Amino acid sequence: MNQPDRNAPLDLPPDAFRALGHQLVDDLADFLASLPSRSVTTGETPAEVRAAVGDSALPQDGMDPAALLAEATQLVLDHSTFNGHPDFLAFITSSAAPIGALGDLLASSVNPNLGGWPLSPVATEIERQTVRWIAEFLGYPSPHGLLVSGGNMANLVAFWAARRAKAPWDIRSSGAAAGPRLTVYLSQETHTWVQKAADLSGMGTEAIRWIPTDDRQRMIPSALDEAIARDRADGLHPILVVGTAGTVSTGAVDPLADIGALCRRHDLWFHVDGAYGAPAAALPECAGEFSGMTQADSIAIDPHKWFYAPLQAGCVLVKDMAHLRDTFSYHPPYYPFVDEAADAPLMYYEYGLENSRAFRALKVWLAFRQVGRDGFVTMIRDDIAMARRLFDRITEHPEFEGATQDLSIATFRYVPSDVDVADPATRKYLNTLNASILDRLQESGTVYLSNAVIDEVYLLRACVVNFRTSAERIDVLPQRIAAVGREVHQDLRHSD
Ligand SMILES: Cc1ncc(COP(=O)(O)O)c(C=O)c1O
Repeated sequence: MNQPDRNAPLDLPPDAFRALGHQLVDDLADFLASLPSRSVTTGETPAEVRAAVGDSALPQDGMDPAALLAEATQLVLDHSTFNGHPDFLAFITSSAAPIGALGDLLASSVNPNLGGWPLSPVATEIERQTVRWIAEFLGYPSPHGLLVSGGNMANLVAFWAARRAKAPWDIRSSGAAAGPRLTVYLSQETHTWVQKAADLSGMGTEAIRWIPTDDRQRMIPSALDEAIARDRADGLHPILVVGTAGTVSTGAVDPLADIGALCRRHDLWFHVDGAYGAPAAALPECAGEFSGMTQADSIAIDPHKWFYAPLQAGCVLVKDMAHLRDTFSYHPPYYPFVDEAADAPLMYYEYGLENSRAFRALKVWLAFRQVGRDGFVTMIRDDIAMARRLFDRITEHPEFEGATQDLSIATFRYVPSDVDVADPATRKYLNTLNASILDRLQESGTVYLSNAVIDEVYLLRACVVNFRTSAERIDVLPQRIAAVGREVHQDLRHSD
């Protein structure tokens, strides 16, 4: 029943919502058009950005929503780092599909809660289909899994499932200390999520065995085998091996087939962290490297990386959905849902850490439908080609040294022509020089790179998960970076 006397100032009459929405979409369309000509970042200090936000106290009264949205749009557009800019090539943060932004508006306007099917009938079924499509894209034989906030959470969910499945006692009730120390194995290039996982699961970071890598930053299977045997001989209980399909620093893909075979032989859970790289498995020219991924008990894959979904969207795939329920399910009386029958409605809250869950699937589902499998294959292939092109241009340039190129990541460093690379003091200087070059590039807002450190060598790093980057922009990068390199080199020399 209408309550005309109710004072609910947060509600917007439909016509006001329509007018505000139209204005916002107009402003955002202008923003997207202007993106290539903007700076990637403003280079402002935290104090400057804080000043722009202002330090007013919590407002006592409200304000006109049209003026508010206009002000907020201006604020956000004037003080952001734009990962959708064609010259943003840092970390593993992709350009976001515009249809995903519209999908988020649709999702949050309807606002289904994907904790349970009754609260999200069509949304749950769309998530189920999206997960199946992700698995299909990767060539993973199981359609099971769920969406989570990102790579850390996808890996954590898999880690907990492995811990529950492979601990030889009821670890959920008795805890991690109720038996011999559980151990996990992964390369030294594995992303830092694993430290959080070991720590928060009660196993402690001492449970982690960092396996050495070869000269292309890939795990050495014989070293893995030895570490497992050593721990078994010492009375410890190995449970899990993580293979990475696209390491965070250089995009290296571990020898997944060998690791999978080893896991089978030792009866260990095989998890693949493909948060970044797994979608490349769909490219026939890359498929060989990823072939072992089909053996995995679980895979982490981030739609907000190489499927270009707006943040946040991660995904964990599992061979057997029962493992997730065995790990996360409880049945409190205030959630009287039963999910045991064959065709029972799917209650996602039972399969992961989150209870209330957003409709993240929609933005991913829309993108799959907008461009199809072929559209994604083309964009991922182009990203890899851009990284290779950059690496080639860099190695042709006399003031750069190329280091690595894998998937869509290239690493390299600036080496001025007047330094003697053979001199041991130069090594330290080049690290300082390249770190300063990165700072200056990031402050300047012209091109946004990040860094990698390999064997204590500081490298500049470009990661292309960006459908707006073009060959023309890639071709001019070496000159642009070298110009900054010369400038910083001069400054450092003068400050000596
Ligand atoms: C291989 C890998 N795993 C996990 C993560 C963490 O992902 P997220 O930042 O989405 O939590 C990253 C982030 O770059 C990554 O590269």
